[in-house]
Amino acid sequence: MRHLLRRKARLCNPSMLARSQIVGCGAYLPERIVTNIELAARLDTSDEWIRQRTGIGERRIAANGELTSDLALRAAQRALADAGTSGSDVDLIVLATATPDNTFPATAAKVQAQLGMSHGAAFDVQAVCAGFIFALGIADNALRLGQARTALVIGAETFSRILDWEDRGTCVLFGDGAGALVLKAVPDPGSRGRGVLSTHLHSDGRQYDILYVDGGPSSTRHSGHLRMEGREVFRQAVQHLSEVVDEALAANGFNAADIDWLVPHQANSRIIDGVARKLGLSAGKIVSTIERHANTSAASIPLALATAVADGRIRPGHLVLLEALGGGLSWGASMLRW
Ligand code: ACO
Repeated sequence: MRHLLRRKARLCNPSMLARSQIVGCGAYLPERIVTNIELAARLDTSDEWIRQRTGIGERRIAANGELTSDLALRAAQRALADAGTSGSDVDLIVLATATPDNTFPATAAKVQAQLGMSHGAAFDVQAVCAGFIFALGIADNALRLGQARTALVIGAETFSRILDWEDRGTCVLFGDGAGALVLKAVPDPGSRGRGVLSTHLHSDGRQYDILYVDGGPSSTRHSGHLRMEGREVFRQAVQHLSEVVDEALAANGFNAADIDWLVPHQANSRIIDGVARKLGLSAGKIVSTIERHANTSAASIPLALATAVADGRIRPGHLVLLEALGGGLSWGASMLRW
């Protein structure tokens, strides 16, 4: 009887069941680099304007015929190799994208087949630039609850396909890419143990119209182009991201000084600096890849993580805080012990 009650208590409190440990990390960028100078040759813009207002110097653009699933697959393969495992061990794929190959099925299903994974579940999550945090939160919950044992969380985008290349206010901001993490369920290692410590998610659908794509299968029947009220998105991003970062710190009993690395969504260096300033975090603790990657939407956080892991900045045991905001509006933060 006592045994049954203990089991029931464990089921009511998922955090006692397991922790999602990060065991692999990988990323992929398309080969073609497009610099600001190249854009300035065909648009009324300049390298100086783009760098000053955004921090962006260049972006990668997928080749003709190179799809979101192709980028996702490469990133996933690298993450699996880093984890020393293969697709056949994975029983959950959660892929964050706003630029799927097709309206349906999920791009994750294509990646699942290409990885040789014939069991478990694979689906997409759509929270635009906040998508990776949403996907991570969903995968973490599934692992904690015992619904899966090994999960691939992927952020992959080909935003170049939904940009209006005549609109200098938006087309200079984005790039293509993919990144992935492999998570494994491990017995809860306690408060100092490694893994996903928390995820906090928020949305405010009243802000639907300040950042959106002006098409879709149910409205215009074509995929449309990205439209944005940049100043309003900027204002709301600094406010919401500062709040959700505070929420994540409070939930875990940490102060900003405890953070080893802030890995923010790479939308604009001024948004990143604004949040860091409110937190009192020094520039030396921020992973920034915006200069070389631009805004790759759901791919930006795993791309930044893979960069900082590869160059030795993020190491096992480090406390890493992720935050992102995107269309919806949707935003969130996740605290990891790497
Ligand atoms: N080159 C030169 N001039 C430009 C460019 C450009 N590429 N783009 C706009 N301008 C001009 C404008 O036309 C305007 O000119 P005007 O004063 O003659 O009218 C002037 O620059 C200022 O324009 P603003 O839009 O007010 O410029 P701002 O300083 O706000 O910077 C930016 C624009 C970079 C877009 C900024 O608002 C921003 O980063 N916003 C947030 C974007 C973001 O975070 N998105 C994240 C989510 S993305 C997602 O979820 C998919």
